[in-house]
Amino acid sequence: MNLAKFPRYPLTFGRTPIEKLDRLSAHLGGGVELYAKREDCNSGLAFGGNKLRKLEYIVPDAIASGADTLVSIGGVQSNHTRMVAAVAAKIGFKCRLVQESWVPHEDAVYDRVGNIMLSRIMGADVRLVDDGFDIGIRDSWKNAIAEVEAAGGKPYPIPAGASVHKFGGLGYVGFAEEVRAQEAELGFKFDYIVVCTVTGSTHAGMLVGFAADGRARKVIGIDASCTPQQTRAQVLEIAQRTAELVELGQPIVGDDVVLLEEYAYPIYGVPSEETKEAIRLVGRLEGMITDPVYEGKSMQGMIDLVETGYFPRGSKVLYAHLGGAPALNGYGYAFRNG
Ligand SMILES: Cc1ncc(COP(=O)(O)O)c(C=O)c1O
Repeated sequence: MNLAKFPRYPLTFGRTPIEKLDRLSAHLGGGVELYAKREDCNSGLAFGGNKLRKLEYIVPDAIASGADTLVSIGGVQSNHTRMVAAVAAKIGFKCRLVQESWVPHEDAVYDRVGNIMLSRIMGADVRLVDDGFDIGIRDSWKNAIAEVEAAGGKPYPIPAGASVHKFGGLGYVGFAEEVRAQEAELGFKFDYIVVCTVTGSTHAGMLVGFAADGRARKVIGIDASCTPQQTRAQVLEIAQRTAELVELGQPIVGDDVVLLEEYAYPIYGVPSEETKEAIRLVGRLEGMITDPVYEGKSMQGMIDLVETGYFPRGSKVLYAHLGGAPALNGYGYAFRNG
């Protein structure tokens, strides 16, 4: 496998810490050891998160292209668009963001706080559009690219979640390599890696990275898209493309994509009672903040998998904490009583 041949523009602090979740593990019976890899604390850029690992491999291409404007898309409270705004500021580009209406929301300030507020503060040209949730390529994004061009700018398009970008999967191949190095220091290997999956390149990159030591199917994706067929297909496609890029030397097949569908309800972006309970539990036992759109759902899933015996006794499970806490500001009503 050869990841090092791809240029990488550093946007993160370096290796992210792995933290043992002692109190959560004990609360769940102590039969499974839970750890978190803190991708949520990976950078000083606008609170960080998983998109930065992906963007580290995309920025060199953006700079080489001669572009002057990053153009991207997400929901109103997209973490990804916040990260693109931060990166644009950091590398001296302009930024044009399309924020679609992916989530029915309860809070009147939903489009003024959290991620979207941060993107505005960082100077991005933020435009709201009415279209609903879809992880695919969107007309609103194509229109934004055309508008930047028409205005004399040089756009560099980054799709939702940076996922279907040709280099979108590379960052999380690097994650797997980093975990292997940390495992060598810790003196043990993780039996499972739990990851929240929506646009797919985080899971896909991990799958390729961990395939190198036979653990592709130990990457347990927890779907938060609520459109799992599309997400599953996108993970597979990105993983296969990424495997070729890094010369993995073995095929990635459909069965390698382990995606659990039962925690995404009621719909993308809306937390169930169980998701809110998981957010409270890990907040109260570990002081660790997870969000209602992504990490709360994968936390809920991991807790349920421990409770239902999915992980054999003695397993060591690594929860990839991918960030996302700024979106909580748009969910004040859900947590009005704690
Ligand atoms: C905090 C957080 N967790 C998980 C994900 C899912 O990652 P991906 O879109 O690569 O599947 C995202 C982005 O979509 C995210 O912002």
